[in-house]
Formats: sequence, structure tokens, C-alpha cells
Amino acid sequence: MTDTATADLEALEARFASDIAGASDLAALDAVRVAAVGKKGEVSLLMKTLGKMTPEERQVMGPALNGLRNRLNEAIEARKAALEDEALNAALASETVDVTRPVAPTRIGKLHPVNQVMEELAVIFADMGFKVAEGPDVEDDFHNFTALNFPPDHPARDTHDTFFMEAADGETPKVLRTHTSPVQIRTMVSEEPPIRIIAPGRVYRCDWDQTHTPMFHQVEGLVIDKNTHMGHLKGCLEQFVGAFFETDTVEARFRPHHFPFTEPSAEMDVRYERVGDAVKVGSGDKWMEILGCGMVHPNVIKSCGLDPEEYQGFAFGMGVDRLAMLKYGMSDLRPFFEPDTRWSGHYGFSPLLQANLATGLS
Ligand code: DAH
Repeated sequence: MTDTATADLEALEARFASDIAGASDLAALDAVRVAAVGKKGEVSLLMKTLGKMTPEERQVMGPALNGLRNRLNEAIEARKAALEDEALNAALASETVDVTRPVAPTRIGKLHPVNQVMEELAVIFADMGFKVAEGPDVEDDFHNFTALNFPPDHPARDTHDTFFMEAADGETPKVLRTHTSPVQIRTMVSEEPPIRIIAPGRVYRCDWDQTHTPMFHQVEGLVIDKNTHMGHLKGCLEQFVGAFFETDTVEARFRPHHFPFTEPSAEMDVRYERVGDAVKVGSGDKWMEILGCGMVHPNVIKSCGLDPEEYQGFAFGMGVDRLAMLKYGMSDLRPFFEPDTRWSGHYGFSPLLQANLATGLS
């Protein structure tokens, strides 16, 4: 009786061994496991019959069944490991990335001209020892106006077409910053001179036509030290204009102007001519205003906790969008802020080509 039974077990083992070897994936292998050694699998059911056997039979069949179950479990584990290896290798083979393949630039989008110009500005001013500073878009009245020497009823507060935020009870309303000049204040309050920063960023004014949008971009510049004078201002800005418009023949004139936060104040004009839609700076018979500037007003220095007898410096501010329009020949500002990929495809820049002074800015 036990002879036939052990012969049956051999046949059973051969069948399951072949099923295990033939399982082509983890699900198929698990089905074999359930059929063989699962709770209601054939081997498990046979083990339940041990109790009804004579002790002699049990002495033969017990170890035989145990051995069979262990061998099947081992074979299943081994096959499982092999299948997992196979699956991993297949995934690795199908998911390889060829890091030597060139990127297709058209598929990764274009850099907006405003970002391009901001990068060019950062590169040019970094070369002159400036670092980039930032401030919040939602400003308080102190940083946007008061510390910049705008008296409470000064008309300049209105010329800025300010967007006011809703005020908390009893508080002065916050504003969307109307210029990047508040970053001057934040920098002077938080850093020790000497200071050389530029602060590019978004600014907001309630205005909308071909050359005005309610949100636009400015870049602010600030230099504070002990012996800084108007000559430094002129030299620095002339060098900037030459680098930005990529010309060696900048001709600039500084026209007296008024800003509350500088004294004296000036607007800088550069000689230019139109070539197509873009401008060529350095030649021609026209003058174009490109920025506002001046020596930082002693009151501004004082409101930042510095002594104007010890420290002075210069500041400047200009429109980044306007610089982009001039340099790259766009006549309308509004498409800058419309999500039209035909426009950005035409006027945008490759994000893979970093602006730098060695190989050219644009
Ligand atoms: N904040 C001025 C504006 O928005 C621009 C400006 C002019 C900034 C002269 C300056 C400056 O730092 O010195 O119109």
C-alpha cells in the first residue's frame, strides 16, 4: 500500500515540478503554489489523511509528504526569485535612458523674453560685483512709499496708480508694489554696507494699453558705500547699456528729473536709431530715455537706520519689458502676458543657451 502511495507521490512531485518550471509569470506560479501546497492544495489534503493511517503507514508517509512539501516550497521560491529577476531585467531593458541623445529644444518650450532679459541683466551686473536681491509683491506702505521719502500727501503716490489691498481693521492697507524700489529699503535695513544689488521683479499699476499692462517688470539697482558719487553712477550705467545693447559706442546724457527717493535725480537717455522694429544704440540722431536714477536721498538712508553723513550711494530703476521690446523689436507689450505659444515660439529663447558675457548675451 505505501509502495503505491510513494509512487503516486513521485508522480505528483514530477507534475508539480514541471508546472513550477513552466510557470511563465508570478501569477501563474502562485496558482501552482495554491494547487500544490495551498490550504486546499493536493499536498495539504494528503497530509490531512495522515491521521487516518496506521502507525506503520504514517512512519513512511509522514516524512515522505513533509519532504515533498518542503521540496515544492523550495522550488516555488527559487522559481519566484528567477521570475522577479527576469521582470526586473525586462524593465531595465525597456526603460533605459540614452543620456547621450541630444535634447530636442523645440519640445521643451522657450524662455520668455522677460526671463531672457533678466538673465542678461544678472550676468552683466554680476560682472560688476552686484548680487540679486528680492522682495515681496505685496508690500506695506512704509517700504513702497514712506521710507522712500514720499510724504503722506505727495502727488507721486497717485501717479503710481496703486492697487490697494483690503486693510485689516485699523491698519494701513497693503499695496501691490508699484516699483522695485522697496527692495532698496529691505536691503539697507537688513545688510551692512557696502551694498551692491540689483532687484528684478514684478510690479503693478492700474494701467492697460499698447505699452502698459497692470503687471510688468522692473529692475532696481542700489549701491551704498562711503565714497560713492555721481561719476560711479554714470560709469556703471554706461557700461551696463554698452553690455546690454552689445555696442562699444554708448553715448548717454543725463537729464535732470525728480524722484522723491534720489537727490539729485536724473533720467538717462541714449543715442539710438531704429533698424526695423529693433533699436540700434550708439549711433543715429535720436535720444531715448531708458532709465531713472540718482544719488540716494539722505532721508532714505536715514529711514533705513544708516547715517547719511557716513554712507551715500546711487540707485536706478528701469522697465525690463521695455528693455526687451527695444532690444528684440516687439512693438506691443500686451502679448507678453497672453499665453500664445506662436508668440513665445517666435520671440522666445532657447533655455539651453545660457546668457553669458564670454560668448554673447543673446
Ligand atoms: N521707482 C521708479 C519708478 O518706478 C524708477 C526709479 C527711478 C528707480 C530712479 C530708482 C531711481 O531707483 O533712482 O518709476
